[in-house]
Order: sequence, then structure tokens, then C-alpha cells
Amino acid sequence: MKHYQTAVIGCGAIHQNHLDAIADCPQADLYAVCDIDAAQGEKTAASANCKLFTSFDEVLEDPTIDVVHLCTPHYLHAPMAIAAMKAGKDVLTEKPMAMSIYETMDMVRAANETGRTLGVCFQNRYNYTSQHVKSLLDSGSLGKVLGAKALVTWGRDAKYYGQAQWRGTWQYEGGGVLINQAIHTLDLLQWFLGLPVSVAAQMSCYQLQDCIEVEDTAHGIFTFADGSRAIFYATNNYCTSSPIELEIVCEKAVLSLKDTLTIQYSDGRVEHSTETTLGEGEKAYWGLGHKKLIADYYACLAEGKPFWIDGPEASKAVRMIESIYRSAATGNRIPIPSPKDL
Ligand SMILES: NC(=O)c1ccc[n+]([C@@H]2O[C@H](COP(=O)([O-])OP(=O)(O)OC[C@H]3O[C@@H](n4cnc5c(N)ncnc54)[C@H](O)[C@@H]3O)[C@@H](O)[C@H]2O)c1
Repeated sequence: MKHYQTAVIGCGAIHQNHLDAIADCPQADLYAVCDIDAAQGEKTAASANCKLFTSFDEVLEDPTIDVVHLCTPHYLHAPMAIAAMKAGKDVLTEKPMAMSIYETMDMVRAANETGRTLGVCFQNRYNYTSQHVKSLLDSGSLGKVLGAKALVTWGRDAKYYGQAQWRGTWQYEGGGVLINQAIHTLDLLQWFLGLPVSVAAQMSCYQLQDCIEVEDTAHGIFTFADGSRAIFYATNNYCTSSPIELEIVCEKAVLSLKDTLTIQYSDGRVEHSTETTLGEGEKAYWGLGHKKLIADYYACLAEGKPFWIDGPEASKAVRMIESIYRSAATGNRIPIPSPKDL
């Protein structure tokens, strides 16, 4: 079996999910971690018993490394991914793929030119309930989709934003609740229903203006090619991180996803499906899928197959978010460019 020597870049809040998934993955061997915070990196390297780099350039120069996992702040995803692919390494980056549509296009170009596999962590697509919704909608058995709603009501306070300087800034995070927290739900929405063609939205910073310069709340309406609409609301001001809520109204059933998936058929039948139990170290609001996604990514590498959450696919959520920001800034309905157009 082909084995890949792997380096995890950034040893902050999310990196342990990657280490655990790599440990469980038959094709991946953790070779190194990298963090510019030497103390943070040393702690991880000692407990994972792997090599430590304190500069990404050293990672790029090490020919042993086949794959890099980017668990770094948002502003580093595009430059690090492009440099790694040009250095001959495959890349799995945390969400968001990048901070702008143009950055995503540069990354896609680099993947095409180098032939490397670029994957993005939208692990909630691997939840059992998400997969069930997708297959029901794709089967056509529920009839036409009439509309949808997506709600993200999470809690992020000054302490959370104070933990890392990049958070809460346009320059380094690229936005607030939309690009960091709600992106998973926006991605699910477009995966289920297709990329909307336009959005009209508003946003504000209602509660956290003393510690962040970005939005803590946003809401709006997406319009799809067939004229149907999805409304969304996202905030970081709730007292807890509540399960996300997605409702999809179809001609023959209403699908309600809030941890449990409930399907209310128009003939009166009601079905419930639940997610499997949380793995150790998994936070419910992050979803359960890192292990599944990472195993799938390496299986694709080993089999020489494309990984399905690639640059063009993962850029769709960035396209939705950038269009929301433009709509909120201008007061206009903004078209959402598809990867096919731009
Ligand atoms: N998929 C999910 O559900 C999920 C959940 C949480 C975070 N994330 C994403 O993971 C990424 C990291 O988030 P986090 O909360 O772990 O951030 P964090 O601030 O906790 O950790 C980032 C780490 O990167 C290191 N770093 C910064 N610059 C570096 C550089 N040039 N080279 C090497 N290391 C560098 C920092 O020192 C820090 O240890 C973000 O993109 C975030 O959106 C995803």
C-alpha cells in the first residue's frame, strides 16, 4: 500500500483533529508538524513523536514530505497551498479555501499546472444526515425544491477572539461569522441545492465591536436559477453554539436538519435519522467528519482519483460569502459567479 509522509502546518485549535485522523489513516504517516510558535510546535511534536519545523520554507524544501495539511489562519491558505503545490506536494487545507474568489482561482490554477491534489475540509458533508439529504434530493423522489432556510446561531466571545490575533480582522481572517463559522452551512446549502445565482444581504457587528472589526451577524436571501429562494441568518452572539438548522421544502416533503434529520412527507409519514456518536475530541458544532474526509482524501491519492471537494467545488462557498459582503457593502443584489464563468 502506498504511504504518504505528511506534515501538519499550524498546531492550534483544529490541528489535533488532523493528527487523530492521520493516525487512523492506513495510507498516511505523520512525518512533521510546523508552527512559527516554537513552544506550540514543540508540544505537539513531542506528543506526536514527529519532526518539528518552525518555518514553512523548511517544509517546502524537505523532499520527504508528500502532503501538507494547512491548519493555519485564513490569510495563509492561498499562499501556502500554492507554494506547496509548486514544491510538488499535495495539499489538504482547512476551510475557508481562501479569503477571496481571486485567491481561489490562483489556487485552482496552481493545482492544474502542477497536477497536485488540492482538497478542502468541508467535513460536514461526510455526516450521515448530510449524505442522506443529498441522496434524497438527487433521487428526485421528493419533487421540486420550493425553498430553504439556513440558521447558524453560535457563541463566540471576546475571549475566543483574544486567543489569536488573526481572528476578527479583515486582513487575516477575511471576515467574521460568515467566513469562519457559517461557511460550513453555506457550503451544505449549495451542495444540496446548487450554487445560487445571486444574493441580497445585510450584516453588522452588534455585540463584539470592541474586539472585532468584522461582522458578528449577517442575514439575507439567496436566489437560485429556477427562481426559488433560500433565506439565511448567521450570528456569533448566541449564548451557546446551537446545532445548525437547515430546512428544505420540497413538493413532496419537508426536510429539517438540526442534529437529527426529520423528513415529513406530504402523505403524513415522518422519518427521523440521527448522526452517529461524537468521536473523542470532536466538537458537535464542527461536525464529525474530519476522520472520514481525511481517509477519503488519502484513498483518492493512493488510487490516483480526483478528490471531490477540490478547488472549484470548495470555491463555491467563498463565492457566496464574497457576494454577501459585496451586497452588504453596496445595498445591491449581487450575482454569484460560478466557477464555470470565472
Ligand atoms: N473544519 C472545522 O470545523 C474547523 C474548526 C476550527 C478551525 N478550522 C480552521 O482551521 C484553521 C486554523 O484555525 P485554528 O482555530 O486552529 O487557529 P489557531 O489560531 O488556533 O491556530 C493556528 C496556528 O497556526 C500557527 N501559525 C500561524 N502562522 C503560521 C505560519 N506562518 N507557519 C506555521 N504556523 C503558523 C499559529 O502559531 C497557531 O498555532 C482556520 O482556517 C480555521 O477556520 C476549521
